[in-house]
Amino acid sequence: MFTITFANPKGGSGKTTSAMLLAEQIRAAGATVAILDCDPNQNIVQWDAQRAEQGRASPFIVRPVPTEAQFLDTVEDIRGKADYLIIDLEGTASNLVTYAISRSDLVLIPFEPTPMEARQAARAVQLVQNTGRMMNKAVAHALLFTKVNAAIQTNDEKDVRKETQANDIPVLRAAIVRRAAFTRIFREGYLLSELLEQAREEVKASTASAQERVLKPLEAAIQNAREYTQEVVNHLPQQKAAA
Ligand SMILES: Nc1ncnc2c1ncn2[C@@H]1O[C@H](COP(=O)(O)OP(=O)(O)OP(=O)(O)O)[C@@H](O)[C@H]1O
Ligand SMILES: [Mg+2]
Repeated sequence: MFTITFANPKGGSGKTTSAMLLAEQIRAAGATVAILDCDPNQNIVQWDAQRAEQGRASPFIVRPVPTEAQFLDTVEDIRGKADYLIIDLEGTASNLVTYAISRSDLVLIPFEPTPMEARQAARAVQLVQNTGRMMNKAVAHALLFTKVNAAIQTNDEKDVRKETQANDIPVLRAAIVRRAAFTRIFREGYLLSELLEQAREEVKASTASAQERVLKPLEAAIQNAREYTQEVVNHLPQQKAAA
């Protein structure tokens, strides 16, 4: 089982959204996915509950982790039940963050590439590195740019990329674009693929240009999630079996 953790003590940096996009695309590629929702706000648990209420099956094993004490037991319980374990952490520093990092094959640190957010992301990188030192092993990690502009690379983004390169901090090439579809999945308890299916149904009788206006952003969102997922999977230690 591969374990991928989303960590950044900065609240609202895009951890939960990035975790969900990854989970959907890994599942779409045919692997099984479990998600540990370690945030007391339980966004992913609620997403799952919303689906259950509406009679839609859950594509993932979703487990809340309400306390630090339950974390290690829950990880053990899931071992063998999924090919991939995705851990969504809350936006504060806690012991749970250290536990999760210690169990991870890859830690992703999502943030919006602005100088202020970059400073906080650098602290998250330090936390991962220190946890690795504590355990006497290197924990693979990478920064992930989120909420970037679809059309242009801002100067902030360019500067932050340069700075991370200068400091030898790994950054994924793929960035997650700011898109309405990425917030809709939470509002409505859907997967991106389901939003696209629904939209196709709704615009069936419309003109080609009206169809394009509705479908293109959703297709672009899925494409973005797919490219990012591909890169994440490529970042995992290759020698480890996927089960
Ligand atoms: N790529 C994106 N495009 C559009 N909106 C986004 C994107 N990523 C995140 N958001 C929005 O930004 C807000 C914070 O995102 P998210 O909940 O994923 O962050 P988080 O790091 O998990 O936050 P917390 O620390 O509170 O758990 C949410 O309203 C979410 O819908
Ligand atoms: Mg979150």
